[in-house]
Amino acid sequence: MSSRPLVAPSLLSADFSALAQSLRRVEDAGADLLHVDIMDGMFVPNISFGPAMVETVRGITSLFLDVHLMIEDPIRYVDAFASAGADGITVHVEACENVAATLEAIREHSLRPGITLKPGTPFTDIEPFLELVELVLIMTVEPGFGGQSYLEDQEPKLSRARQLRSAAGHDFVIEVDGGIGTATARRAVSAGAEILVAGSALFGAPDISAFVSGLQSLEAAPRR
Ligand code: DX5
Ligand code: ZN
Repeated sequence: MSSRPLVAPSLLSADFSALAQSLRRVEDAGADLLHVDIMDGMFVPNISFGPAMVETVRGITSLFLDVHLMIEDPIRYVDAFASAGADGITVHVEACENVAATLEAIREHSLRPGITLKPGTPFTDIEPFLELVELVLIMTVEPGFGGQSYLEDQEPKLSRARQLRSAAGHDFVIEVDGGIGTATARRAVSAGAEILVAGSALFGAPDISAFVSGLQSLEAAPRR
């Protein structure tokens, strides 16, 4: 794990009319990975894109594709997103009929398994699965839409993830998603976030390179 925060632009806020240039811009800005939000209109009220978009993006960029599935019963689509070129797949604990089997299916494809939860879901709901994942994603907005305000009341989950990782010897990285801008990134990193997903603030920044390097130079909380 890098000692500095990693930055993951969220594809949702990219310029789809000029996708290749939009992705080139974030690569040139030094982004560390690309966050790809998949929404099914059932688990969340919005619909975004499917495996075909992941395949398209895979052909455009060599960035790590960090796929966040906001879909009901996501095990049904693990094969499709793996074939499309995902590098990591994160699923919602609330959406899985069998969480362990879903994470295992992701691992069988040699992809990075991740788990996440909605703001209203207690952290204890994901605790039984922490030994099965390589990434824990803390949502700091209600999943479904970009451009919402950061929920400070989710920060205790970031701290809890760090505490439990060190207490139990787990080996996951901690990611935060939702409402991340320069000020909220600083708060999230102090609370324990190591990967910062940023959509609207990043793609809307007047200078994307300065925005990315500002986040990457935030002082990481001491690793415990
Ligand atoms: C919300 C998505 C986020 C979204 C973040 O459901 O999971 O990844 O793109 O967008 P911002 O950074 O605008 O909150
Ligand atoms: Zn996301």
